[in-house]
Amino acid sequence: MDTQQGIRVENLMKHFGEEETRVDVIDGASFTVNKGELVALVAPSGAGKTTLLMMIGCVTEPNGGKIWLGDEKVYDDGWLIKDTRSIRRKKIGFIFQAPYLIPFLNVIENITLLPQANGVPEKEANAKAMELLTYLDIADKAKMSGSQLSGGQNQRVAIARALANNPQIILADEPTAALDAERSVSVVQMLKKIAQEQGVAVIMVTHDETVLPYCDKIMEIVNKKVVMKDSLEDVKII
Ligand SMILES: Nc1ncnc2c1ncn2[C@@H]1O[C@H](COP(=O)(O)OP(=O)(O)O)[C@@H](O)[C@H]1O
Ligand SMILES: [Mg+2]
Repeated sequence: MDTQQGIRVENLMKHFGEEETRVDVIDGASFTVNKGELVALVAPSGAGKTTLLMMIGCVTEPNGGKIWLGDEKVYDDGWLIKDTRSIRRKKIGFIFQAPYLIPFLNVIENITLLPQANGVPEKEANAKAMELLTYLDIADKAKMSGSQLSGGQNQRVAIARALANNPQIILADEPTAALDAERSVSVVQMLKKIAQEQGVAVIMVTHDETVLPYCDKIMEIVNKKVVMKDSLEDVKII
């Protein structure tokens, strides 16, 4: 068994619709992301980036293939796990384009909501949230609401929220799309630090060339398959 394996996908398939309305989106994707790696996922709009993330995240059911999250095989031509929601909560942190903080809760309450729903005592959840906010350099914002923070600060809170359950995997769908260049780089540097220091496997969808140098590898969707590239050369950004 490969202990370095963070995410592994083999011959993954996904289509929407049937017969004349059928659209094949992913048709035989295979790749591995190691623990500790930050991998950029790059492809034109509509190529299937979000669909791919949602399959890895056990949100969307594939039509065939295999998925491993760490050592655990979760999909093999059907879910191998009874409860996809519990695997999401246990293993995966999601970060989206907009942070979607709950507006009437403050920063710390946003971060501790899910851990508390999962049964973590309030004191423990708060201590962990403060630790994360300190790590992300926004501890002074703990008592503020999302509307009082800048876009970049909001996105850091979203990262803290994604980390609150100690995920093995982070799936980020265009997390810097709403940010200026400087804040984008700072958010991606955070993701890189988390990957390296905590051994998390991170896939980040991006259209932003400026953040690619901070990524360990670049994944493209080409002809409905995934091509993994170790260097920035030959990567076309659309
Ligand atoms: N729930 C769905 N039902 C039908 N078609 C979908 C659904 N989700 C995505 N698609 C289609 O799958 C393709 C890939 O979409 P998506 O994964 O969102 O692409 P990307 O994130 O790369 O822009 C698009 O053609 C989209 O219209
Ligand atoms: Mg998308």
